[in-house]
Amino acid sequence: MDKKLYLIGNFKMNMNMASIKPYLEDLKKVADNTNNAVGICVPYVYLPYVSETLKDSKALYGVQNMHFKDSGAYTGEVSADMLLDFATKLVVIGHSERREYYNETDEAVNLKVKKCLEKGLTPIVCFGEKLEEREAGTYKELIERQVSAALEGIEEESIKDIIFAYEPVWAIGTGKTATSDEAEDAIYYAKSIISAKYGKQIKSIMLYGGSLKPSNANELLSKPSIDGGLIGGACLKMEDFESIIAN
Ligand code: PGA
Repeated sequence: MDKKLYLIGNFKMNMNMASIKPYLEDLKKVADNTNNAVGICVPYVYLPYVSETLKDSKALYGVQNMHFKDSGAYTGEVSADMLLDFATKLVVIGHSERREYYNETDEAVNLKVKKCLEKGLTPIVCFGEKLEEREAGTYKELIERQVSAALEGIEEESIKDIIFAYEPVWAIGTGKTATSDEAEDAIYYAKSIISAKYGKQIKSIMLYGGSLKPSNANELLSKPSIDGGLIGGACLKMEDFESIIAN
């Protein structure tokens, strides 16, 4: 495959110190030997170790959430400046698990995206429909709502600093993958929403996420609108992650 892909692993609430150590050693080799952009988003507590270990590597790293305020009485939260203390690059924003379990709203997603851009962090903005919306045929409205809301008040020149990830909720962690045509169609549509807002010339980076694994990666990632993958389960085993990257 000729195009440069973004292949970002999302650890979610997995891994521990004992498993991360050898993982990072392998990741460095894999990331330094590919033209693809490879990264991982880890639980906050591992950030100091990850930043120290990957500092001379091409591997990107980041976290899975961030608060939109600079500081204050927000128990349990982490700010952009705290992440920058560890030279963090990536922040997953609006993952469906956060929308679902922590009531993360479109408005909060938008504020977080703005804060990332202000601070020079790269947000990975997740969007995608649930099974009901897919089956009811209303998923395009949902995609339009989530993408437009995330970009409210964001200037054209910032679009290149954002990574988007289409993650149909029904495909996350379920083993059910969107077919490559379904993923291409949704991502093409989401890109067209961005072009309609900012102009035809605008290019956006959009990943697919949802049970992406070695056996389906090639087909999904070779689709013209898909610029890479956000990979949950399959990133936890380096063998699988590496096989997706090497493809
Ligand atoms: P999955 O998760 O690959 O385990 O489906 C993807 C994600 O939620 O980012």
